[in-house]
Amino acid sequence: MEDLNKYHSVHPVLDATRPQVYIETYGCQMNVNDSEVVLSILQQAGYSLCTEMKQADLILVNTCSIRDNAEQRVLGRLDVFRLEKKRRKGVVVGILGCMAERLKDKLLEHPAVDIVAGPDAYRALPKLVAAVKASGKQINTILSHEETYADIAPVRMDRNGVSAYISIMRGCNNVCSYCIVPFVRGAERSRDAWSIVNEAKVLICNGYKEINLLGQNVDSYLWTNPADPTEKVDFADLLEKVALLDGTVRVRFATSHPKDMGEKVIRTMARHDNICKHIHLPVQSGSTVMLERMNRKYTRESYLAQIEMIRGIIPDCGITTDVIAGFSGETEQDHEETLSLFRKVRFDGAFMFQYSERPGTKASRHYPDDIPTEVKTSRLNEIIALQNTISMENNRECIGKEYEVLIEGTSKRSESELVGRTTHNRTCVFPAQGHKAGEYVTVRVHGCSSATLLAEII
Ligand code: 5AD
Ligand code: SF4
Repeated sequence: MEDLNKYHSVHPVLDATRPQVYIETYGCQMNVNDSEVVLSILQQAGYSLCTEMKQADLILVNTCSIRDNAEQRVLGRLDVFRLEKKRRKGVVVGILGCMAERLKDKLLEHPAVDIVAGPDAYRALPKLVAAVKASGKQINTILSHEETYADIAPVRMDRNGVSAYISIMRGCNNVCSYCIVPFVRGAERSRDAWSIVNEAKVLICNGYKEINLLGQNVDSYLWTNPADPTEKVDFADLLEKVALLDGTVRVRFATSHPKDMGEKVIRTMARHDNICKHIHLPVQSGSTVMLERMNRKYTRESYLAQIEMIRGIIPDCGITTDVIAGFSGETEQDHEETLSLFRKVRFDGAFMFQYSERPGTKASRHYPDDIPTEVKTSRLNEIIALQNTISMENNRECIGKEYEVLIEGTSKRSESELVGRTTHNRTCVFPAQGHKAGEYVTVRVHGCSSATLLAEII
């Protein structure tokens, strides 16, 4: 492959003589990748990344609004930044991302905050910082129909140099009634397919071994070449283009939507060994009545049929999900249907939440938040307990089997142990035996917990 490195540095350029920027990131993988875009823009404007808040001239916090507790954590951090500003005059604090977009000038009232910048305003950051120095607090929360940051090469902030994110689209056109995302991230836009392929090439040239394609709803990715409208690239086409770049580089993607995910994507996954056999397919509820109220546009039955379709084509495909306990109007019967769907599907893993009403959403306007907190919590705990048992049973079935694993780094518990994942997204821990991050090894599983497979390199 041609050397694309001469054009970009994918890693932070650390230079203590430059003004220092410190970035804290909350929320989803897309936010992590947005922070990498922000760093790229600021590095271009002369800043250097620092890892300690105490060294920073500019403190940025990239925020999440998905549930109230995500926002509360950030508000707590603002008090810490306020103290830092008192200690060191001239430090500038900026709030970025979804909370900036949701709360707008309300955040500017906070004494710690100098800049409020929404998800489509990052190109303006250098100007906003300069304007703070000249004339005080600044805000830009304009949402765009076009911005995809396609021409900005993210500066990677991962620790291991093995796995990297590429955002393939921004925004969301679904209106799930509980969800704040369409309000804070704006309308859906698909990024230029060739800019995605080029970004993947740059990562591969830099030794990355896993590429994660990100979008709120990857199945609705569709790019039409403005120079030649007959050239259309859908998600399955894009997945294939990226997979064909290098057979030794894994490709993953998230998030799929049950209303849009079709057989073409699954067949594309099956055709390429390096497309990981894992789908994250949020179900949200096992009750069709709840799904209707959530405006998800699929039913319990159609979701189950999709799971069957996936397993028919890729029998051992890893499948994970998201679920919300205690949405408006959820009866004991609806909750039982969620539990029974979990028993039927036997997910490999799940992110499980209790419903948090978000101001401005359709649910906040039309459906009362009427499930008492204790009931939400007890339903959530029941789902968690069930899923833990299922994960444990699924993992036990892996004992004695062999898997190819991409090593991602050392384990949290011990320097002499490594962590990697199987194609199905199962995490394995095993003694290093001289191997290191970025290598593929074959391991045999000899034990497990509900979250991890314990293995040995063979
Ligand atoms: N309350 C609780 N969970 C939510 N999610 C999205 N909005 C809410 C909310 N208001 C969950 C969904 C989604 C995941 C990213 O967060 O399960 O898939
Ligand atoms: Fe990501 Fe949604 Fe949180 Fe925004 S609100 S950071 S899109 S999870």
